Amino acid sequence: MYAVMKITLTKPFILRCFLVCLFLSLPFLFFYLLFPQQQQPFHHSVTTKDLTIRPGYSSYQSYIQRQLNKTLNPRLRKIWTTRDWDRKIPVFARFFNDLRDKNLLRNTSKALCIGARVGQEVEALRRIGVADSVGMDLVPYPPLVVEGDFHNQPFRNDTFDFEFSNVFDHALYPQRFVAEIERTLKPEGVCVLHVALSRRADKYSANDLYSVQPLVELFNHSALVHVRTVDGFGLDTEVAFRKNGPTHHHHRL
Ligand SMILES: C[S@@+](CC[C@H](N)C(=O)[O-])C[C@H]1O[C@@H](n2cnc3c(N)ncnc32)[C@H](O)[C@@H]1O
Ligand SMILES: *[C@@H]1O[C@H](CO)[C@@H](O)[C@H](O)[C@H]1NC(C)=O
Ligand SMILES: *[C@@H]1O[C@H](CO)[C@@H](O)[C@H](O)[C@H]1NC(C)=O
Ligand SMILES: *[C@@H]1O[C@H](CO)[C@@H](O)[C@H](O)[C@H]1NC(C)=O
Ligand SMILES: *[C@@H]1O[C@H](CO)[C@@H](O)[C@H](O)[C@H]1NC(C)=O
Repeated sequence: MYAVMKITLTKPFILRCFLVCLFLSLPFLFFYLLFPQQQQPFHHSVTTKDLTIRPGYSSYQSYIQRQLNKTLNPRLRKIWTTRDWDRKIPVFARFFNDLRDKNLLRNTSKALCIGARVGQEVEALRRIGVADSVGMDLVPYPPLVVEGDFHNQPFRNDTFDFEFSNVFDHALYPQRFVAEIERTLKPEGVCVLHVALSRRADKYSANDLYSVQPLVELFNHSALVHVRTVDGFGLDTEVAFRKNGPTHHHHRL
């Protein structure tokens, strides 16, 4: 009698424990589904004096949704591919010409533009003679732009000679944004960022940057090679890093 009662009590109790555990593990499950290749804890985002993450994103999905909401807007896409197309490509081409003059970019470079939207910067690279160029964005725009999240780039390690981005401010996890660039750049590959230091970016930004210093700290496996003031569609500073070569010794260790 006693034994029978024990069994009937234990069964639902174990079942309930199991269901509670399953329920509690759901957020972690989603976490790993979203970031299958993650190597660094992305939830531990860097917030320093000169780099702050904007609050207000309840989940990664809501962050992505917000980005997509603008990028998918048909009226805006029309403008970006018509009026903006001819206005912006020559400006990008001038930036890339200057970088080629400084030996940070070559015609033979395999190049990636991160957060390229409809690919104006990719078109500019191709026009100046950097034929092997492609863009990446949450929304693809073939043939110039392939689909991908910059927090989890769809490319193998050591793929590109050159990466350009003017969307650092859209990174919810700046550490991951930079780690992915360092992962996909070849040794001695170059990353050029256009960032806003002296004015606040738009309402779709996920972070605010106030100096170059946080970037220098994030680019752990690279050397700062160049900083200059530019006038790049609301972005005022150009920063270039070169990824360490294969024989580089880590003095910081
Ligand atoms: C301000 S727009 C810049 C577009 C383009 N670089 C230009 O200068 O015309 C920001 C772009 O970043 C993209 N973006 C935002 N978050 C992203 C993410 N996590 N991964 C990839 N692209 C993202 C958006 O879809 C949008 O196209
Ligand atoms: C997306 O944009 C539309 C119109 O611009 C707005 O009504 C809607 O609330 C937005 N949705 C999100 C998830 O931000
Ligand atoms: C790079 O390509 C451009 C455009 O095709 C060409 O004018 C230039 O001479 C090339 N530069 C080199 C070093 O080959
Ligand atoms: C790719 O690079 C990352 C970061 O540098 C490293 O942890 C990982 O082991 C590399 N993967 C392969 C397949 O080499
Ligand atoms: C950079 O390297 C330092 C020490 O080498 C480490 O503590 C830090 O987490 C690294 N940062 C990133 C963004 O990888």
